[in-house]
Order: sequence, then C-alpha cells, then structure tokens
Amino acid sequence: MKNIKAIIFDAYGTLFDVNSAAEKCKDKIGNKWEGFANYWRTTQLEYTWLRSLMKRHKDFWQITEDSLDKSMKVYAIDSSMKNELLDLYKILSPFKEVPQVIKSLKEKDLKLAILSNGTPSLLNQLVKSNNLENIFDDLFSIEQVGVYKPDSKVYDMPIKKYQIQKNEVAFLSANTWDVSGGGNYGFNSIWVNRNNSIFDNLDYKPTLEIKNLNDLLPNIESN
Ligand code: LAC
Repeated sequence: MKNIKAIIFDAYGTLFDVNSAAEKCKDKIGNKWEGFANYWRTTQLEYTWLRSLMKRHKDFWQITEDSLDKSMKVYAIDSSMKNELLDLYKILSPFKEVPQVIKSLKEKDLKLAILSNGTPSLLNQLVKSNNLENIFDDLFSIEQVGVYKPDSKVYDMPIKKYQIQKNEVAFLSANTWDVSGGGNYGFNSIWVNRNNSIFDNLDYKPTLEIKNLNDLLPNIESN
C-alpha cells in the first residue's frame, strides 16, 4: 500500500473488544455470556442503521443502553447487572497487540486517528482508560455529522480535516460492513479478520486482510 498519509481505525471491535464487558461478568452471567454479548452488539449496530434510516438520531451511548435493555430481556439476565455492564462498556479492553502497535505507528510521519460511532466522551474515556491518550491526532466521532456509519458523511471527516485524497487513507476495521463502507467510499480498506470470518458481498473486496494489527506495519508505505 503506497502513498499512505493517514491511518484511520474503527474503534469498537477493531481496537477495543466489545465482548470484554460481558466477559468480565461471565461468573455472574454463566455460559450464555458470549451469545448475550454477540446479541447485544448486533442489536446495537442494527439500531444505528435503523435510526439513521429513520432519521431519528440518538447518540451511541443511548443506543448502547437501549440495545442492552432488549438483550438482557432476551437472555433473561437480571436487571441488577445493567449498571455494571454499562460501566464496563466505558472501559473496554483493547485487543492484546493494540497498544504496542499503535505506539510504534506514532513514530511514523502519518496522521493517526480513530473514526467511530462512539460519542466524543466515550472515545476519550476508552483511550484514556487504556493509557492511549496523546497518541492519536484525532478521535473523529459521528456526532459531528449526526448520522452513523456507513454514511459517506462519516468517512468524509478525516478527508476534509487533513485535506488528503481518499486513496491516501488506510482504513482499518474488523467489522466487515464498515470495511465495505469505507472501501466503497474510496479508502484503502483493511479488514482485521481476527476470527477467520467470511467477507461480505457488498461490491468491495478489502485492499488487504490481516489477522491482527501486527501485520499492518510491513504493508504500509508512506511515500
Ligand atoms: C465504531 C463501530 C462501528 O467504532 O464499531 O464505529
């Protein structure tokens, strides 16, 4: 990948493990914790897409809570767990190689940013609780444009701020639909495929597929 001027990361599921909140409660939730975590995540994403289509925006934190309420009912999880799960969602753990790779990218002459559905305050807390503050040039939140991914207004944000071309961006996401969204927009989209999953049929094949962020550096050339 040549002439890259900015490396832009999705946050949830890509840098930070969205299942880590439920996993930390697995003693209380029991074996169903993983099914519940996946259902919560799927419902949360569906609500982002549906609210954008219905033009009834609520921020990502409200959507996270709304989707949690439904998921706890579906999985018969005691309502007393709600606040603990929400508090843990604010400080999700990063995937294990993330801190070190991000820190080594910082030494390169590239813009480094997060582009996420999360609110500015959620993104700040995530980065801070994982000791990753002062590394990213920007934490771009969709709250600036009031519509969720994969609306092109979201992917426009770093292009406008950095005054660069779409193909000068390496955009990384573990979420296949976000890779397709960014790729159809014009980014070099890189799929972080941690779980050997199958890609989408949405008119885009990833520029690159990697197992985790360790495989990123050898593939990036800044000019
Ligand atoms: C985000 C969601 C898509 O961080 O994971 O934007």
